[in-house]
Amino acid sequence: MSEPIRVVVTGAAGQIAYSLLYMVAKGDVFGPNQPLILHLLDIPPMMGVLEGVVMELDDCALPLLHGVVPTDDPAVAFKDVSAAFLVGAMPRKQGMERKDLLSANVKIFKVQGEALDQHAKKDVKVLVVGNPANTNALICSRYAPSIPKENFTAMTRLDQNRAQAQIAQKLKVPSRQVSNLIIWGNHSSTQVPDASHAGVEINGSVLPVPEVVKDAAWLNSTFVETVQKRGAAVINARKMSSAMSAAKAASDHMRDWFMGTQPGKFVSMGVVSDGSYGAPKDVIFSFPVSIKGGKWEIVKGLEINDFAKKLLEVTGKELEEERQEAIQIIEA
Ligand code: NAI
Repeated sequence: MSEPIRVVVTGAAGQIAYSLLYMVAKGDVFGPNQPLILHLLDIPPMMGVLEGVVMELDDCALPLLHGVVPTDDPAVAFKDVSAAFLVGAMPRKQGMERKDLLSANVKIFKVQGEALDQHAKKDVKVLVVGNPANTNALICSRYAPSIPKENFTAMTRLDQNRAQAQIAQKLKVPSRQVSNLIIWGNHSSTQVPDASHAGVEINGSVLPVPEVVKDAAWLNSTFVETVQKRGAAVINARKMSSAMSAAKAASDHMRDWFMGTQPGKFVSMGVVSDGSYGAPKDVIFSFPVSIKGGKWEIVKGLEINDFAKKLLEVTGKELEEERQEAIQIIEA
């Protein structure tokens, strides 16, 4: 057994955290030989609820969990952490404009960026789940200049997992046989789910998904829209937003970042853009990445058709607008 690592989850009294904490504490992310100390951050009015979450974590009697630190103080929450799941965010309330939402979140992610900068390990891996996830990650990174930009990522893994599940159901195979789905761009309705480079394993060989599906119209419309609107469909049915699946996606994202991807396989992550595939530079853009030794690399050289290129432009533009609005708020 190694020394315990410290892992922070923000929004720890919320619904995603309720599933995520269990997954992390039982070893789904850092493996069965890595003990950990969980730091739980939420806001002062939620400390009572958080106490209940801590009791439940205690009562799980999990062998890997060496301690729990509940707090409403970012300086305590981010102290010496190796991994940060930034789940807590200001939710969009009725009648709220995008600008109001951005404004509330810019403030939260500025404070958390500064706290990471001062208190976290310099190689901390940060995953932003709280929306607008891509721009929140950008702001957080901006206020943590002593931590490399590459260490700030935003979650599009839920969209990727949704895409994988849609293809698996269409082909009537278990989802583990489907790989290399891509989500491009922003985690918003402009995201671009792309199955054109995906593979499906059939009788031991991996075949291109478009050739097996043989239904370009379905892939270009129904598939794309189902993935884009899946979050809303879950809210309609459950009256609450995706939580179990969001927690699973956050676990998948962080596990792959720490453990790496299999040869020939890639996953989608919102990462700082280097301008690949015509995306704007210096926004957090979701790309296909491969991961080795804890470092991600954008998969280069994939062919993008004209239809997809246009969609990539739209999602890139949205991210540029969000960045501009966020910067205006900061500088105001
Ligand atoms: P929730 O409302 O159940 O929980 C959010 C928690 O964050 C609350 O306990 C709240 O008190 C806390 N919080 C608010 N401000 C905070 C701050 N400054 N510091 C620490 N904690 C703070 O929400 P839920 O369902 O857990 O969702 C959390 C976020 O994740 C939302 O922004 C949601 O839109 C986003 N989300 C992102 C997904 C993605 O794919 N990237 C998927 C699903 C949700």
